[in-house]
Amino acid sequence: MHKNKHWNSSLGFILASAGSAIGLGAIWKFPYIAGQYGGGAFLIQFILFTLLIGLPLLIVEFYIGHAGKTFSLTIFSKLSGSKFMDLIGLWGNIAAFILYAFYSVIGGWIILFIGYYLGIIFNVFELQLDYFQQMIANPLLSILGALLFIMLTEVIVSFGIQNGIERASKIMMPLLFLLFLIIVGRALMLEGAIEGLKYFLIPRFEDLSIEGTLYAMGQSFFALSLGTTGMITYASYTKDDTNVIQSALWIVIMNLLISILAGLAIFPAASALNIEVEAGPGLLFLVLPKLFEKMTFGFGFYMLFLILFLFAALTSSISLLELNLSNLIKNNENKRKKYALLLSLAVFITSIFPALSFGIYKDFKFGAGTIFDNMDFLVSNIMMPLGVLFTTLFCGFVLDKQLLFSIFTRNSQHSKLFTLWYTLIKYILPIVIIIVFVTQLI
Ligand code: PHE
Repeated sequence: MHKNKHWNSSLGFILASAGSAIGLGAIWKFPYIAGQYGGGAFLIQFILFTLLIGLPLLIVEFYIGHAGKTFSLTIFSKLSGSKFMDLIGLWGNIAAFILYAFYSVIGGWIILFIGYYLGIIFNVFELQLDYFQQMIANPLLSILGALLFIMLTEVIVSFGIQNGIERASKIMMPLLFLLFLIIVGRALMLEGAIEGLKYFLIPRFEDLSIEGTLYAMGQSFFALSLGTTGMITYASYTKDDTNVIQSALWIVIMNLLISILAGLAIFPAASALNIEVEAGPGLLFLVLPKLFEKMTFGFGFYMLFLILFLFAALTSSISLLELNLSNLIKNNENKRKKYALLLSLAVFITSIFPALSFGIYKDFKFGAGTIFDNMDFLVSNIMMPLGVLFTTLFCGFVLDKQLLFSIFTRNSQHSKLFTLWYTLIKYILPIVIIIVFVTQLI
């Protein structure tokens, strides 16, 4: 991104941030975590966290970016005058790096699936029942998948063609919504679907657990790209007249919708097709192929789904790479290609360990589970909540209230809304985050 880089329009900003938010988090991660933590009990907590905590926090991050207009590693000191505050940016950058490494493993699965199905169309492979398990357990294949995903992201980012990608998302995202509606419709028509639907929609008190609550909170941050400085970076490219509150609202709603649609597709289908909802990270990849088998033109629909899914994942990985990269090249566009490559190489090496977690390191478990599970746990349930906590405390206690108020009221006259938001982010949210976090530790 070049000097004084900014989005051409508010729409460009919304598309890019929605692209960053909507990705594997909503489509792949949400259903499988919900499956492990009680379905309906998880859904309700996730919705509450997203609306009551995620939305105000997204506004916090947008504000910091919008007010500071510089790189995430220096923005905190620019706004506060204290070098020490830049540690918050560093924390987020590290979280994003680790996140990108395990994210690319799942992104890689999508590419492998596309390759596999193309192979079937062209009669190179035969359709095998347990191909998914075989594929992810194969060390070379899973590493290759992650490598391809990282390379794709790298090419887009190093040629600076994100703009084109954002414009494409105007078509791809609505298409993804539409396809999800079709998938949900088909899933609900299956015999036995109603069980899964109930599991997903009806909260059961006995399914509540403090661990589940931490996961629900972490998931709401993950899905909105919070606590990693990703949204701060994108907001730093906004012009003064961008309505960041409206943008945040749009992103939150779209993200919730896609998450819920994903759940409405997966749970009814899983119960009808007798697939364990606690299957873990593979859940979506186990359920959907079986569901598409039952659809007219299922094969074509599945291909289309995989392509849109990959696209959604890429618009997120682009932001993951860009947020680190922008700090390395600091507006010197000549460095873009070289540093994008170096950074991608480092991410790829890191991704090898989580990639092997479904094969040769499958039984190597500690803490939250496999290496993959632990990286995800570290980022989603520790680094992101803490990153978010530091950021909101920074906004509440360090930033000038008058400055925030002037940005808030630039596009609207809602001073009552400002007071509500300010009280939330300064006092209530930090306490909620600390309580969830500490209770889980104990
Ligand atoms: N929100 C993205 C997703 O759900 C993941 C992400 C997190 C992207 C943090 C950027 C920064 O897929």
